[in-house]
Amino acid sequence: MRIDVLTIFPEVFEPYASTSMLGRARERGILDFRTHNLREWTHDRHHTTDDEPYGGGAGQLMLAEPIFEALDDLQGVPAMDGTFATTIFFTPTGRPFDQRLAEELAQQRQLIMVCGRYEGIDERAYSRADLCISLGDYVLTGGELAALTVTDALCRLLPGVLGNAASAADESFSTGLLEYPQYTRPAELRGLKVPDVLLSGNHAEIAKWRREQALERTQRLRPDLLGENF
Ligand code: ADE
Repeated sequence: MRIDVLTIFPEVFEPYASTSMLGRARERGILDFRTHNLREWTHDRHHTTDDEPYGGGAGQLMLAEPIFEALDDLQGVPAMDGTFATTIFFTPTGRPFDQRLAEELAQQRQLIMVCGRYEGIDERAYSRADLCISLGDYVLTGGELAALTVTDALCRLLPGVLGNAASAADESFSTGLLEYPQYTRPAELRGLKVPDVLLSGNHAEIAKWRREQALERTQRLRPDLLGENF
C-alpha cells in the first residue's frame, strides 16, 4: 500500500513511521509511506498556507489553493487497474474512525491524507475529498496525529506485517467484542495468579474461557458494542 501525506509539518512523521511495525513494513516494501510539505505548492516568499476567515472569527484557516495544487500533482494518473488514489481529509466533522473503516481502507492501493492545521481548512478544499475522517469527539491542533493513527491501524492489517496472521483476526473489535485478558510469565506475580485454565493445556477449555471472558468484558465495559440483543 502507498500512503502520501500532505502536511506543513512533515518532520513529525519520520520518527514514528520509521520505528517498530511501520518501520519494518516500509523496509519490507509492504508500506510505501511518503510525506509532502504543503509549502512546496505556495508561490509567495513566505510560503503562506493560511489566512483570516471571511466574515471574521478567531484564528487562521488553511488556504484551499496550495491544497488544490498539491492534489493536482499527487492525485495524478490512475494506476494500471484504472483506480485513483483515495483522498482523505482529517476533521472532527468526519466519519468516526473505527476498526471497520480501518479494514475497508486496508484494501486500497493508495491513500492520500491531507492534514489540516489552525482552525480548519477553506471549505472549498473538501471538494477534493473522497472521505473525511474524525478520530473522535475532540479537537486536535492538526490532522498529523490522525494521519499517523490511521496509518498505524491500517499497516498492521496489511498482509505480511504481523508475525502471526491470526493475531489481527482475534483481537479487540475484529470479532465485534473486546479482546479477552492475556498473561505471560511468571505464573504468579505479587500474589496475582494467572487463571488456572490457561496453564491447563486444554485448548478447548482455553478457547471457551476466552470467549466467555471477551463477552463478559464487553458487556461490562462496552455494552454499546453488543447492540440491543444483549
Ligand atoms: N483535526 C482536528 N481534530 C481532529 C479530530 N478529532 N479527528 C481528526 N482530525 C482532526
